[in-house]
Amino acid sequence: MKVRYLRKNEIDKTVKIIEENNSKKYSLLAKKHLLAMFENKMYEPKFMVAEESGEILGFVGYIMSSLSFRTYEMMWVNVSKRHQKSGIGTKLVSKVISEIELIKYKGEKPSNILLSTLKPDYFKRFGFKTILKFKKNKHIRALDLNKK
Ligand SMILES: CC(C)(COP(=O)(O)OP(=O)(O)OC[C@H]1O[C@@H](n2cnc3c(N)ncnc32)[C@H](O)[C@@H]1OP(=O)(O)O)[C@@H](O)C(=O)NCCC(=O)NCCS
Repeated sequence: MKVRYLRKNEIDKTVKIIEENNSKKYSLLAKKHLLAMFENKMYEPKFMVAEESGEILGFVGYIMSSLSFRTYEMMWVNVSKRHQKSGIGTKLVSKVISEIELIKYKGEKPSNILLSTLKPDYFKRFGFKTILKFKKNKHIRALDLNKK
């Protein structure tokens, strides 16, 4: 299994994971977001997939935040139901963190990564900490790259 950047012709099969984990409606929203990776915008998201023999097992996205060019956001962490609990989510999230750490924009390195999640405990292992809580169990978590 390898983790690499998404290709445009893999969008439909990648968002099937969202349909399976959530709903058709949500997967259409994800599709718009994945398409944006190929639209050459200033705040262009990037997506990475976990792939094995042409099958997409999971994916995750990240984008520079419009708040600050040293802040990144991670989104859509999803692993297909059949392949959950076999370390794929961990590989995807770890790979995105290390990709973000390699970035240098205007001579500066990223300093933190934000994400929004209903599963805050899952992200503890990577060092994310809750900085804000809303709704029932929705957490905004932050990873301080200087304190890892
Ligand atoms: C959450 C998700 C991405 C985890 O991916 P995964 O590939 O199954 O996870 P991994 O195999 O890397 O890690 C499994 C470990 O995480 C733990 N874990 C899984 N879900 C968890 C949760 N909600 N809270 C705490 N720990 C959790 C497992 O118990 C397991 O622990 P272990 O390593 O000690 O055995 C996956 O379950 C998923 O796609 N869920 C549906 C979409 C979703 O909820 N995404 C996250 C919200 S942003």
